[in-house]
Amino acid sequence: MHEAIREAARIIRGGGLVSFPTETVYGLGADASNATAVSRIYRVKQRPCEDPLIVHISSLESIDAISGQASPAVKELASLFWPGPLTMVLQRSGNMVVPQVSGGRPTVAVRMPDHPVALAIIEAAGVPVAAPSANRFGHVSPTCAEDVVADLGDEVDMVIDAGPTRIGVESTVIDMTAAIPSILRPGGVTIEELRQILPKVEYKSREVDDSPDAPGRYLRHYAPDTPMVVVDGEDRELLYKMAQELARKGKRVVVISGVTNREYEATGRGRMNYDDMSGGTILTLDRYDATGMARNLYRMLRLADSQGADIILAGVLEETGVGVAVNDRLFRAAGGRVITDDSPAAVETISALATAEPQETFSQE
Ligand code: TXA
Ligand code: MG
Repeated sequence: MHEAIREAARIIRGGGLVSFPTETVYGLGADASNATAVSRIYRVKQRPCEDPLIVHISSLESIDAISGQASPAVKELASLFWPGPLTMVLQRSGNMVVPQVSGGRPTVAVRMPDHPVALAIIEAAGVPVAAPSANRFGHVSPTCAEDVVADLGDEVDMVIDAGPTRIGVESTVIDMTAAIPSILRPGGVTIEELRQILPKVEYKSREVDDSPDAPGRYLRHYAPDTPMVVVDGEDRELLYKMAQELARKGKRVVVISGVTNREYEATGRGRMNYDDMSGGTILTLDRYDATGMARNLYRMLRLADSQGADIILAGVLEETGVGVAVNDRLFRAAGGRVITDDSPAAVETISALATAEPQETFSQE
């Protein structure tokens, strides 16, 4: 066994915190059977204690220990999508995981991550591992070890660096406790894939619920420090028109926009480019298809912050496949601000958000 894995497992068993990569984002792991260790996760993340954590397992037998006898549907989803980016909310039973993991609820969220490092650590620790994304509460999730260090730095006992994560947005969370399963958070496993097994599965996009009964559907989540607005139009015309309007007013605008399927077929992946407008600047980040957008989204949001942008304008993707998860994260990162037209009121709303003093230009690295 690799020395770092052994050390990580030792820290977790001793009640410490280890940040490790999964296929989605980096997690902040602790022993799910240790109440003190679990409380430390909430404290370090500054996360409200009623917002429950996902328990990570490395073998199927662990489901029964955490949740009692699994239903046929749960078994089928597990055999098809695990290890992988699917989290199932189940009834909690027994004392394998402490109630603090569930923020006091009778349910527990469980997933088996598809990453050799994560699986090896859980296996070596020999306990289920509670692990939220390793960011400050409400901030952009970390997709590389540097992001973890930037957000949580000294408060973590160990950070394992295994490069950038493959999927880039979090796992799909599905509630399997109701008669009709519903998707609480879209993610790496698509709704289309889930509907093949559960034709009736429910999902409401742009659902906002800030109450503790609906954890994880907070309006402002996954958010950069820079103000952000989603520009929801059939094509990219409205997005670029708005960006130019703001640049003319002297703002430094970051444009994040995937390509539509049609554009992608025509041109392939776009390029990062700068447009100097009179006074302001538009920085258009690399343009990807939905998979590429998912993988690079959080890095782009952090980049906009580090470039000192005044505002981020984001275009939505087609609401299919992993595009659904990307659109959800864009909506929440923007705190629910969506514009659909270029009326003077819409332009005014956006300009008021971008209040920072304009500087010369972006630092072009
Ligand atoms: O991809 C992922 O799922 C990553 C990696 C590290 O595995 N983890 C992650 O954890 O995103 P976190 O804590 O950032 O998000 C967990 C989501 C939250 O929205 C939480 O409210 C929801 O899952 N959740 C957890 N337990 C739940 C429960 N018992 N009932 C309803 N929602 C739950
Ligand atoms: Mg999170």
